[in-house]
Amino acid sequence: MKPFKHDEIGYWSEVKLDIVRKYASAYSTIMSTQRSIKNHIYIDAFAGAGLHVSKRTGEFVAGSPLNALAVNPRFKEVHLIDLHGGKAKELRRLVGSQKGVFIYEGDSNDVLLHQVFPRCRYEDYNRAL
Ligand SMILES: C[S@@+](CC[C@H](N)C(=O)[O-])C[C@H]1O[C@@H](n2cnc3c(N)ncnc32)[C@H](O)[C@@H]1O
Repeated sequence: MKPFKHDEIGYWSEVKLDIVRKYASAYSTIMSTQRSIKNHIYIDAFAGAGLHVSKRTGEFVAGSPLNALAVNPRFKEVHLIDLHGGKAKELRRLVGSQKGVFIYEGDSNDVLLHQVFPRCRYEDYNRAL
């Protein structure tokens, strides 16, 4: 398996992470109150290793998968995909085993179509971000 090194991210990526975190929180809050919706689901097709290093501070910062898992109310399912075996393995180590959380090592072009989208069908009253 390819070893991995944490990505270093700039200020703009930290801002993006914050925007996605707030959007996911609002989405989950709204969806969890909709009686007609069975499951609301979070998908990260380019999940990364879970942590990055801030170029600004040199400190670790949570990546989008960890932010999504911290959202309250929780998503009913969280699907995290990364092509890089080392990153998927590290993400699995950080997240551990949690109900409704699925971590895939693979190409999202394939995993989304065959494993994730079938669980997010409109006619099953499921919705996904
Ligand atoms: C910028 S990083 C992820 C950042 C993460 N979403 C966040 O915001 O914290 C992009 C990731 O996409 C992964 N990647 C690139 N092409 C991919 C593909 N076709 N399928 C799945 N993962 C892919 C790379 O291995 C890399 O870890």
